[in-house]
Amino acid sequence: MVKPFTRRDFVKGDTDILRKGRWANSDLYRYQHGPGVWVVKDFLPCHPLVRKTWGRFFAKREHRAFTKLEGISGMPEAPFLMDDYAVCYKFIFGKTLKEMPPELISDDYFFQLEKLVGLMHARNIVHLDIRNRENILVTDDGKPALLDFQSSLNLEHIPKFFHKLLIEIDFSGVYKNWHKVKPQLLDDKRKAFLDRLNKKRSLWLFKGYPKLIRKERRK
Ligand SMILES: Nc1ncnc2c1ncn2[C@@H]1O[C@H](COP(=O)(O)OP(=O)(O)OP(=O)(O)O)[C@@H](O)[C@H]1O
Ligand SMILES: [Mg+2]
Repeated sequence: MVKPFTRRDFVKGDTDILRKGRWANSDLYRYQHGPGVWVVKDFLPCHPLVRKTWGRFFAKREHRAFTKLEGISGMPEAPFLMDDYAVCYKFIFGKTLKEMPPELISDDYFFQLEKLVGLMHARNIVHLDIRNRENILVTDDGKPALLDFQSSLNLEHIPKFFHKLLIEIDFSGVYKNWHKVKPQLLDDKRKAFLDRLNKKRSLWLFKGYPKLIRKERRK
């Protein structure tokens, strides 16, 4: 496959920083290339030890997840690896769920998000970081989109015994945000599911950066 652009194009090109990473995170750029607007998630600025191990691993893992999810509306489109350290995909116009005022979110938004998560599971991907409202977008046309598949897992590589719990963790992320943003629309059944999962939270595998190693974002 011919890549839409190379690192050389990117370095010379028209870029905006979306987010600076911490010591073990990528920097995220918005990059205009011809008519296309892209996200470049780049581990190159990390220390070589981080970039060559963790960075390479996470860029590849996210790219694999995006590739498995291609064609589902609400998932990042046209993913490719620019090189070993950067995964790229189409920019999605919208706001994160954290930034979006609840009154501007439609009443069927969370039903659509729940459906989107179901479609993702049907492709054997679990996200595992849906609780974070910065990983969810409300697109300019009011639809849900999911970002940040860095903690995702391919269920084909996980023993069957764990599948149910991992799938439930994702749905509990949907219902946690639903409860926060549109509590009046979260029915008793989903609320009971959320309460049950919250009790199991001590088993959580991924909670972001532990405080001790968090450190500052790059300047
Ligand atoms: N395809 C995209 N379209 C629009 N905005 C995006 C896209 N990808 C990322 N962003 C923006 O960049 C932010 C960070 O993206 P992402 O969560 O993938 O990176 P991250 O390095 O994992 O960051 P963090 O560690 O803070 O979660 C998102 O919250 C969103 O605001
Ligand atoms: Mg994120």
